[in-house]
Amino acid sequence: MCGIIGYVGRRPALPILMEGLRRLEYRGYDSAGIALADSGAVSVTKSAGRISVLEQQLDLEVAHTAGVGHTRWATHGAPTDINAHPHLDGSGRIAVIHNGIIENDRALRTYLERQGVQFTSETDTEVIAQLIGQFYDGNLEQAVRQALHEVTGTYGIAVICADEPDVIVAARQGSPLIIGVGQNEHLLASDAAAILAHTSQVIYLGDGEMARMTPDDLRLTTLDAIPVAKDVEEIEWSLEQIELAGYEHFMLKEICEQPSSLENCLRGRIDLREGTVHLGGLVDCSRELVRARRIIMTACGTAWHAALVGEYLFEDLARIPTETDYASEFRYRNPIIDDGTVVLAVSQSGETADTIAALTEAKRRGAMTLGVVNVVGSTLTRETDAGVYLHVGPEIGVASTKAFTGQVSVLALIACYLGRRKHMSPAAATQFIAALSQIPEQMSPLLEHVDHAKAVAQRYSGRDNWLYLGRGYNYPVALEGALKLKEISYIHAEGLPAAEMKHGPIALITEGMPVVVIATAGSQYDKMMSNISEVRSRGGSIIAIATDGDREIAKLAEHVLYVPDTLEPLQPLLTVIPLQLIAYHAAVLRGCNVDKPRNLAKSVTVE
Ligand code: G6P
Repeated sequence: MCGIIGYVGRRPALPILMEGLRRLEYRGYDSAGIALADSGAVSVTKSAGRISVLEQQLDLEVAHTAGVGHTRWATHGAPTDINAHPHLDGSGRIAVIHNGIIENDRALRTYLERQGVQFTSETDTEVIAQLIGQFYDGNLEQAVRQALHEVTGTYGIAVICADEPDVIVAARQGSPLIIGVGQNEHLLASDAAAILAHTSQVIYLGDGEMARMTPDDLRLTTLDAIPVAKDVEEIEWSLEQIELAGYEHFMLKEICEQPSSLENCLRGRIDLREGTVHLGGLVDCSRELVRARRIIMTACGTAWHAALVGEYLFEDLARIPTETDYASEFRYRNPIIDDGTVVLAVSQSGETADTIAALTEAKRRGAMTLGVVNVVGSTLTRETDAGVYLHVGPEIGVASTKAFTGQVSVLALIACYLGRRKHMSPAAATQFIAALSQIPEQMSPLLEHVDHAKAVAQRYSGRDNWLYLGRGYNYPVALEGALKLKEISYIHAEGLPAAEMKHGPIALITEGMPVVVIATAGSQYDKMMSNISEVRSRGGSIIAIATDGDREIAKLAEHVLYVPDTLEPLQPLLTVIPLQLIAYHAAVLRGCNVDKPRNLAKSVTVE
């Protein structure tokens, strides 16, 4: 959601904060602000709009060596200059930036107003700033601690004070914060990308923990002032991975990275000779996992689509009854969890609030929990009993692409891992993992010959309604193709299991309406051909995703985008690529900001 950056050290803070903000902009981008501390005053500059708007208002020459910066995705209060962070207390000497939501802000606001406090913004964050101001008595850490005892909700906060200009106090409850450890300096960020240029040595702050940072000292405690000892860890991502590297957009870069990101995801996990899968993260729980009578997958957005592919894989390969639930629905629907239920959360960021809440609910009800997550050290990875990392590298584009193929691949590996421990023969497993290991190579030509995807985008990007149809393993891909198109090009698109079209959505089909049909070779092919006829006879224009060599389909479709042949359960890894490319090119043609689509944020850390 929002992004946090902080710096305290010997160097001028402003360039470091601005660079951090630029790298965090994908987290939220409707307003931004900076606060710098100096003995005597805290200076705040903030504005609605992108980071570039903020930059124009800053005096880049100032040499303050401590400060905090924030990029916002509005929840409480419109994205205006006033509501942008940082927020000051009544004295103007304490500045706060905040990610998350304060749930009792109304009550606290009323209480503070009765004390004579005058608020300047509509945000819940200002309540924290004013509260800290009320408690401040010459010790910032103490005042923050006291204020947070009054607060309920989620937060990652960073606080500076004019009277202690070389101190940042940070605290976390449900919203990620990472401390970067440098030479005579400390950094603070909500996301590793913001500090990677300065240090790869980090400490992950846990929920209910606080940090007091100066250039040379770092003190970690709980909210109740009990000292906390933590190891310094190494971020495994490199700076190059979070740069555009010549690409126009992160989304295109990440689409094109898929062959290599999948290779990294599969590396060391497949043994073709033995027909086995090695997943270090599951070793300790494999016996319990194999005995699972039911698996519930939970996720949001694109990760939910990947989980749905996982459901098919788990039932097909491991023969374990599996269901997929939106995290936001699972947690509130009084789910039945018994001894044999395993709950598996799928998430790129590992920070999605609904997914974390669903997992917490599953744990509360006694389920064994697993995570399939990309970001190492993220909240989900610390909350689950066990898990498997994607290892696809950082994903910066708001529209998820390489994480989807990584998630499907990891779920395929887990399905095969469990299948082998149940009934799957070495030969069947070898065939499956051999096909999986070929996918990166099979993806490459799809990414080199993008003319067809471009041509489809050119022809139909002016149409405001699209349908995506798929069956079986390609039904989740239809959902994902439609999501990609709508989230970055603002075209209305619906994905459906193809047979459901007849039960209502067929009424939408008019002359020339683009209908994307995933009709690859396999058990569903004939049924898909029938669906194609139904669409054609109502005037719809067919854009088919088909298997190399299928000439029949070309007679029925306006456009055919071919993918290499593979096993049916692995087709989503290939069929999704043309759909990602169509969405990308449609968005570019419509002049949309591909990496920062309107109203969206990369990681939704509020419910
Ligand atoms: C947001 C993003 C989506 C993503 C979803 C789940 O909505 O825009 O791209 O799929 O969150 O995120 P996660 O990090 O849990 O995979």
